[in-house]
Amino acid sequence: MSDARDARLPFLPTGRGAPLHVARAEGCWLETREGHRILDAAGGAILVNVGHGRREVAEVVARALEEVTYVVPVFATEHRLRLVERLVDRWLPAGLGRVFLTSGGSESMDAALRLVRQHHVSAGRPERWKILGRELSYHGTTLATLAVGGHAKRRAGFEPLLLDLPKAPACYCLRCPLGLRYPDCRVACADEVERAIERAGPESVAAFVAEPIGGSTAGALVPPPEYWQRVAEICRRHGVLLVMDEVMTGFGRTGRRFAVEHFGITPDVLVGGKGLTGGYAPLGAVFASEAVVAPIAERGDDFMYYTYGAHPASCAAADRVLEILEREDLVRRAAQMGEKLRAALAPLERHPHVAEVRGLGLLQAVELVRDRATLEPFPAAARLGQRVVVEGILRGVFFYPGGVDPARDVVCLGPPFVVSDAEIETIARVLAESIDAAVAGAKAS
Ligand SMILES: Cc1ncc(COP(=O)(O)O)c(C=O)c1O
Repeated sequence: MSDARDARLPFLPTGRGAPLHVARAEGCWLETREGHRILDAAGGAILVNVGHGRREVAEVVARALEEVTYVVPVFATEHRLRLVERLVDRWLPAGLGRVFLTSGGSESMDAALRLVRQHHVSAGRPERWKILGRELSYHGTTLATLAVGGHAKRRAGFEPLLLDLPKAPACYCLRCPLGLRYPDCRVACADEVERAIERAGPESVAAFVAEPIGGSTAGALVPPPEYWQRVAEICRRHGVLLVMDEVMTGFGRTGRRFAVEHFGITPDVLVGGKGLTGGYAPLGAVFASEAVVAPIAERGDDFMYYTYGAHPASCAAADRVLEILEREDLVRRAAQMGEKLRAALAPLERHPHVAEVRGLGLLQAVELVRDRATLEPFPAAARLGQRVVVEGILRGVFFYPGGVDPARDVVCLGPPFVVSDAEIETIARVLAESIDAAVAGAKAS
């Protein structure tokens, strides 16, 4: 599936062997240079929400580039204004009316950290600087977002460069870090957020940062229904800002515009990326309440931008992608097809090497183990999750690899919202076959 030129690509190492060479993509399908078709059950990196190859998006981007190639992010352009208006009027939870546009998820999360810190400094509370994060989380690969995140594999080796920030436990009911079981636990993991704030010293904590539903780190961890309301109340009581990272879950992925809508909360800061443009151009965003921004604005403090933030072409792409989601009612479709995907995956719940199938909407994950009774994973050297992804590609379906100890082997699913019934059946069938083949390979190795 590759040639000598691919093997010589001057990329930094990202894996083993030459990369898959994709020549074109349309709808839910990728096509390699050799003409092999691969069903994109991962929507790229769980972001191609409206599907690949929409000509109208390409055309609007081309026109935007002809009109205004580049101007600094603090200038207004027609596409920037249209996008912000659409976001505020039709997409964002009420109360989040301030928008800062970047060029991706990591940048947005990094900017959100700067924003909450700057908020407290401008408000005369310079002692509030600690950012509370959670275990088994991911917020990006800048050094600050790695420090807030709880992804041991991606942090490994960088620890001396990472601020030692406090962490609350993940909502990982399958292997509850507190050794409890829902509902008898009374959602003790929410109370752990308060305990972590108290341990850190409430007056020193600036914000609590988390994904409302976990992404690919441990694989689509959905918290108990009561969790977020209680955590939001704890944060409010301690003057700690609540920052929700919806880079993966935002813009319809879980069957609502934003995952926070499932839980009936509005954070102080909400962060988006990925699905904002559905993969058509690089863009990320930080959305904040007036109360977060007001102290900064009142003092006339600057908030530094990124050169490529709010690029006019990216704004044009996002505006059109969001319009497509609205026109084709695709957020509702994500909820419906998510239920179908979940039903198609149900037989896997009895598979001897599947510990759990979990997720919401079109963000689903399967956690694999050697022993379903004890939840013992396969040895790390078996790289079971990676094997499933390779077996999937060989059978014509791309799954998204995830997982970090103790959720060592996780396969994520995040197809475009336009995925059909037949494609859902194919995804479920090939996933079962790929798991069987990968397990056989791991046992033989
Ligand atoms: C929840 C979450 N936050 C942040 C990021 C980082 O986004 P990016 O890769 O666009 O920098 C990701 C990427 O997967 C993510 O899933």
